[in-house]
Amino acid sequence: MSSRRALMQSNLRGFTRRGGKVRDVYDLGDRLVLVATDRISAFDWILPAGIPDKGRVLTALSLFWFKRFQVPNHLIDDHVDRLPNVSDDDRSELEGRVMIVKKAHVIPFECVVRGYLAGSGWKEYRDHGTVCGAKLASGLKESDAIDPPIFTPATKAETGHDENISFDRMVEVLGSELAERLRDLSVQIYREGAEFARSRGLILADTKFEWGTDLKTGELMLVDEVLTPDSSRYWDASGYKPGGPQPSFDKQFVRDWLETTGWDKASPPPPVPREIVDQTRNKYIQAYKILTGNAFPWS
Ligand SMILES: Nc1ncnc2c1ncn2[C@@H]1O[C@H](COP(=O)(O)OP(=O)(O)OP(=O)(O)O)[C@@H](O)[C@H]1O
Ligand SMILES: [Mg+2]
Repeated sequence: MSSRRALMQSNLRGFTRRGGKVRDVYDLGDRLVLVATDRISAFDWILPAGIPDKGRVLTALSLFWFKRFQVPNHLIDDHVDRLPNVSDDDRSELEGRVMIVKKAHVIPFECVVRGYLAGSGWKEYRDHGTVCGAKLASGLKESDAIDPPIFTPATKAETGHDENISFDRMVEVLGSELAERLRDLSVQIYREGAEFARSRGLILADTKFEWGTDLKTGELMLVDEVLTPDSSRYWDASGYKPGGPQPSFDKQFVRDWLETTGWDKASPPPPVPREIVDQTRNKYIQAYKILTGNAFPWS
């Protein structure tokens, strides 16, 4: 395992790279190339170490879910060979990380759906009895189910933290027709995804979708990544025990470790020990294996 290297930055020759926190984005005119690197962010910082193959897990799971859902999405192709001017070295590095997508006007809201009380939702409920301003039944414990699942949008902040907002606020910006459509579609795919995950022994506690409109046709479509461990909380259903936080398949593991280091979150994060990197990698790969039922092709 020690020979495995994380891809921290991709380099598609001849194109300008725009870096997200995790994905490198290249502009091909009417299309984009999204390359999922192995970067991992926590507390709004990109950590100095990557998680080898994490980008491949995110890409494979997004492809898996895009194929399952009926709603339109941005995917055109996932074959590295279809990219212009890729050298053999670059090809092996990029294999499994690439999505060629339709360029979208991204709707500037994170469409979050919560079926369980966790994270910031739990904190707000504990303190105020609400989640994103919506009142829930009283007496719920941390990690309890929220039935029916709720739609709790957040703004997509250019810098700093995304901010939870009320649905009414989203309606003010987008109009009720689009806002309701995004809410209903997001809840619908959360339900479908959660039902499938449950059949594989996982609880999909919550997730975040991004939507956009096709720059050419105006069609509403699902963009970015979908139901990955970076955009979702997955829990092992067999160990599920409400009344506290649940072990998850995402970067919570790294966050918990960071909390033990005394890092102030205002200066660059500390180096990440090898065993934390390895254990995080295993979590992501586990999620892939359980959801798809397949062996991970790069392990
Ligand atoms: N089809 C698309 N058209 C235009 N932009 C897209 C499309 N799909 C995804 N994007 C954008 O590409 C970027 C993907 O990079 P990444 O997910 O690393 O960004 P980020 O938002 O900075 O990170 P994070 O999701 O961790 O907040 C996002 O800004 C996303 O909104
Ligand atoms: Mg993102």
